[in-house]
Order: sequence, then C-alpha cells, then structure tokens
Amino acid sequence: MATGPVTELSEPADDPALLEQRIAALLRQMTLEEKIGQLALVPGAGGQAPDQLHQALREGRVGSILNEVQVDTVNELQRIAVEESRLGIPLLIGRDVIHGFTTVFPIPLGQAATWNPDLIKRGARIAALEAAAAGVNWTFAPMIDIARDPRWGRVAESLGEDPWLTGLLGAAMVSGFQGERLSEPGSIAACAKHFAGYGACESGKDYNTTNIPEQELRNVHLPPFKAAVDAGAASIMTSFSDLNGVPATGNEMLLKGILRDEWHYDGFVVSDWDSVRQLAVHGLTADDRESAYEAANAGCDVEMNSATYADHLLSLVQEGRISLVQLDTMAGNVLRTKFRLGLFDNPYTDPSRFPAAANPEHLQTAREAALESMVLLKNDHGTLPLAVEALQTLAVIGPLADEPHEQLGTWIFDGDAQYSRTALQSIRDLVGDRVRVEHVRGLETTRSRDRSGFAEAVALAERSDAVILCLGEEAILSGEAHCRAHIGLPGAQEELIAAIAAAGKPIVLVLLAGRPLALERILGHVQALLCAWHPGTMGGPAIADLLFGIAAPSGKLPVTFPRVTGQIPIYYAHKHTGKPPTPETFAYIDDIEPRAPQLSVGNTSFHLDVSYTPLFPFGFGLSYTVFEYANLRVSSPVMTMDDSILITADVTNRGDREAEEVVQLYLRDLAASVTRPVRELKAFEKVRLAPGEQRTIAFRLTARDLAFYGRTMRLTIEPGQFHAWIGGSSTAELRTDFVLTDSHSS
Ligand code: NOJ
Repeated sequence: MATGPVTELSEPADDPALLEQRIAALLRQMTLEEKIGQLALVPGAGGQAPDQLHQALREGRVGSILNEVQVDTVNELQRIAVEESRLGIPLLIGRDVIHGFTTVFPIPLGQAATWNPDLIKRGARIAALEAAAAGVNWTFAPMIDIARDPRWGRVAESLGEDPWLTGLLGAAMVSGFQGERLSEPGSIAACAKHFAGYGACESGKDYNTTNIPEQELRNVHLPPFKAAVDAGAASIMTSFSDLNGVPATGNEMLLKGILRDEWHYDGFVVSDWDSVRQLAVHGLTADDRESAYEAANAGCDVEMNSATYADHLLSLVQEGRISLVQLDTMAGNVLRTKFRLGLFDNPYTDPSRFPAAANPEHLQTAREAALESMVLLKNDHGTLPLAVEALQTLAVIGPLADEPHEQLGTWIFDGDAQYSRTALQSIRDLVGDRVRVEHVRGLETTRSRDRSGFAEAVALAERSDAVILCLGEEAILSGEAHCRAHIGLPGAQEELIAAIAAAGKPIVLVLLAGRPLALERILGHVQALLCAWHPGTMGGPAIADLLFGIAAPSGKLPVTFPRVTGQIPIYYAHKHTGKPPTPETFAYIDDIEPRAPQLSVGNTSFHLDVSYTPLFPFGFGLSYTVFEYANLRVSSPVMTMDDSILITADVTNRGDREAEEVVQLYLRDLAASVTRPVRELKAFEKVRLAPGEQRTIAFRLTARDLAFYGRTMRLTIEPGQFHAWIGGSSTAELRTDFVLTDSHSS
C-alpha cells in the first residue's frame, strides 16, 4: 500500500533543480525511521525473502540490499519495497561486480596493463549489462586505491601504482558501468572505493593502519577519486583503514572536508562491510552508539551490514546530537541516486530485455581485453612467437595450464568457469594435429611442495621441442585479506623451473598471478616470460594467440616488479632523496660476492644485497617488433602560465610485423617548494604501426598539467625547470627540457 505520489517520483531528465525539489518533497513525507531506513544496506538472504526481511522492507527499514542476484527474488524484494511499504521507495541492489559478471574480464590490474580506457569501458559496460539483467543496479567498483605494495592482496583489484593512470582508467570504468545516463537500461551505479588511502596499509597487510602525510594523500591517493567524482561516480565507499589516527569511515576531513566541501560531490557515501561498527574496534569510539554518531557526523551516509545506525540514529537525532539537516542530507544523497537510476519509474528487472550472459560478443571483448592485458617481460633470442612449423612436440607444464576457475582470479562471485577457455585447450585448438601437445602438472597446486611430479615433468620437457610453463598463483592467493609476506613463486615452483631448465629446452614461462611476483631467482632459467595476470574467461585463447604470434603483445606494466620482497615499496615515481644511488653503485653491487669483506661503496640510498633498480619497471613491456624513439622536441623551450607546449617524438616500427606500442610521456619538476617525484606519467598514446611505419606523436601540455599540492595543501603551479621523456617505459632515456615561467603570454 504505497501512498507516495508516484507520478512525481519519476526521474526528472536533465533538470537538477526539479530533482532537488522531488527529493525535498519526498523527505517531507518521510518519518525519521523511514529516513534512517534509507541508510541501511543489508545482506540478501540467498535467493529468499524471509519474513524478517519482508517485514523490514514493508516498514521502510531497509534502503539497499547486497549480494542478492536471483532475479525472481530481487524482483520480489523490489515489489515488497515498492508496493507494500508506505512510501514505495525502491531498493538499491548492490553487488561486487569487479571485473565482469558471468563473463569474467582480466583482474583490474591486468585491465590496467592494457592502457586502453576504451576497452576497459566496454568491459565495464558488458559487466553492467549482465549484472543489470540479474537485477543488480549498483556495483562496488572501481577500486581505485593506489597500490605500491604487491604484498597487499588487493593489488589484484587495483589499477596499479600510478595516480594519474588509475584515475583515467577508473573513470573509464565508471562511464562503462553508468553509461550515458544512469537511468538507461543496463546502467548501474558505480562505487569508487576505498576512500581513502587503503592501499597504503603498513607492510602490505590488509586492513592495516595507514599513515599518510596530507601532501602525499593529496598528490597520490586522492587524485583517482577526484577523477571518479568528475566522471560522475554515483557512490563512494569508505576504507576500512585507520588514516592518521582517524579511521576513514569516521573521518570528517575526508568525507565532508574534501569530498563535499572541496569537490562538491552529490552522490552518496557507503561504509565498507561493518566498518561503522569497527570504529569501536579501532579504538576511536567506546561503543556502537558512538560509532554511529562518529560515522554519521563525519558524512558516511549508508551503513553496510552492521546496524549501528538502525539501532542508534533515532535517539541520536532525538537528542539533537545528529541534526535533522544532517539526517536529511544523508537520506537525500541516497534518494538522489535512486532517482538518477530511474528506479521510481522502473524498479524491476526483465532479463529478456538484455543480451544473454556470456554471449559471443561478450566473450570476444573479454578475449580482446585478455590479449591486451598480457605483458611480455622477457624474450631472449626471439624465443617467442613460437612457429608451429618448427615444432613437433610441445610440453605444457604446470598446475595453472588447465584450470578454468583459477584463471578467473579474485572477486568472481558470479563468474562462471564453465565458459573459461584455458591455455592448454587453446594451445591445442590453435595447433591442431600439427604439433603433439602433452601436458603434466608437475605440481598439484602452485603452493605444493611435493616434488613427486618433477620426474614426469622433466621427462616430458626432455622429449619436447619447447616448454610452456604455466605457473604463478591460484586465484585464492590474492584479493581481500589474501596478502603474502614473500612474493616469490609459492611452493616448489622455483625448484620445478630449475629442474626443467636442466633439460636444456627453450622455456616460456606464462605467469598467471594476481600481483607482481619477485622472479629474479628464476629469470635466468627461462628464455621468455609472458605475464598473463589472472586473465579471466578468455585467458586461454589470448595466451595461445600471443605465444604463436597470431597477435603481438602490447601490454605495459601498471605496477613495478621488484627483484625481491625486501625492496618493497618500490615504485617509479619515488623521490630523489639527498643521496641517490648511481649507475656506478649499481655496477659495483651487482658484482659483489655475498659477504664481501669490504663494502665501501659510498653512502647512497641502496641495499647492500640487491640492486636499487626493480626487476621490471612501471610502463615496461616488450613486443614482437622493436619501436625506435627519436627526434624528441619541444615546441617552445619556455612555457607561460596560460599557453601550452607540444612535446613530440617520432616513433618507428623497426621490426617486420605490425604491432601496438604505448608511447608514454614522463615529466620531472626539478626544484619546487616541496620535493617532487623523479618522474611522473603525464600522458600516453597507444598506437598501431605497420612494419617500417613512422608516426609523430605529440603531447600537449598546459601549466595545469604541472600542478601539485605544495606546502599549503593547495593546488599550486610553480615556475621552474622541467625534464620531459618520451618512450616505451618509465625508464625512457630520450629527454628534452623546458622552463615554466610565471609570466602570461597575453
Ligand atoms: C569488503 C570489501 O572491502 C569491499 O571492497 C566490498 O565491496 C565489500 N566487502 C562488499 O562485498
């Protein structure tokens, strides 16, 4: 018996003032309890609508449900909310649609390695369509936490270590999920998470404390969120973590000061699972009631799972500790999103209006994404691509060669492994009966230490012309609360590689993993290394196409690969320090014996027992061709505050096959009021070049591109000298310089 004036609740297309009027009108009709109900996000009941939930919905005590994807149940829950509650307010139905729904795309870290915002957007759109068909209208993605510690399991779910790239690709995901309009069929609300600083957890241990100076917060961790807000992200999720002593869910400086006052955000903020209740566990509050107070007061609108708002907000409002204005703001933020989603007009889902899940087009896009996500890290003597005609026998070895589930990676609640195509199947499909392909696991799982399968694996390698090793990490080794203290290959994989290498056959290591792994100890044993991440449903065909040269690799690392765990944190945009290491230090250290008697190598910033360089730098990735960079130039050596300059280079494909290259521009601000990173990615372009083709790539820079948060925590643009590099990775050597003056050209 909804009594609300339904006709006035339709989404007022492109009329913000009317939208605000409708929200206000609805709020005027709502009781305090109903307003508080809009702030409750509760778990579904696994395909049912039990009496308790039914009753809560009828009484308007629930505003959103998560983890319910049975179409009939979702529609029934919506029906109860819309037809049986007093005001008929529809529900948000939330789900972690992180890298696909039924069709699984590469883990977000892999998607970031595509450096292809359009492809990422298309993937998010497909995920949204498949999820919307099931009645989901809100995803908890993208995760845009800056991840500079590969021990952290959630690096898999991140878009890597770079603030600008993460912002760009996160915004592409937001637009894929949300479409042109949130109210159009197949659009779902995005949720940028976890606000803020979650990725900086001490020692890479999930949920751990973060201490982030405000300047670093603003220059590194917040920019992706600003980009997501600018892209229209409908919601923001708070981080579990303690930020400088005030856990994010109760952090007013973040949720009100930055998000609302500085950025004028008008979507809603949701806590993470139980993170309001956990304010007491952190030791910020003494009990649930105070947790509700702190979170609500800080600006956390919706509480996920725990019920401190449901239990305590009413009395907090009645006592005047939480103002009515604050409560209306919180409920209004939720209602605004429901209007924008068009839920008042159409709360139900009708799967027949959507394309079938995992249809050929969706699978094809997943295949493209997998293909572009893979990064060729080593390829000695042109080991890859393999030539079918040069092979009679091929060994495919490893516990991840034929594992439909493991290749999907973390966060795949709705992914369906029956659609997965594995590397082994796809290699067999590709070579047909031209090559005899044999497979053994070698190890039962990647974590296994049982070497009883080694002899069989070595024997197979000995009788084969080449070996493909599919090793790395099972899906369960990365993701939330799945962090590792040692990030080498787990189990006895290193020993397996060494044993197989002794057979003397060319070895291609295909790495399936949710994070960068420290591979220094085995790198010398393999001739080629292809990082495939967890590539999703269509990982197999993508691997096969790359191994056999049907396509050339074009992925570039969105995150640094350390040599050993002890180098962490290691990332390209580090500060210079007052005692930077030099190439001489590097050469010397490389040569020293362990326990060398004299270690007088100069007082610079380095470790005695490992090079100061990473194993593979950010932005790096090989191709089957060679791209040559030349003629780097700047349109003017001087830039004023209001003009722009062009930084240009000629890129030539010097090989004999067509391929794609990600041309990258990095800058360094040489002297500033606060020290600046040694390099920062500022722009890139992914280009496809035919053999011999040359393309001039120009990047336009304005003074705004040089802005940063300085000593006063305000965005500042400071005159001075800049270095600029263009190349195929963050270690590009081709450099030009320019000066920014504080004059104006007009
Ligand atoms: C906890 C995770 O931190 C968050 O990212 C996720 O969206 C929620 N659980 C809901 O599953």
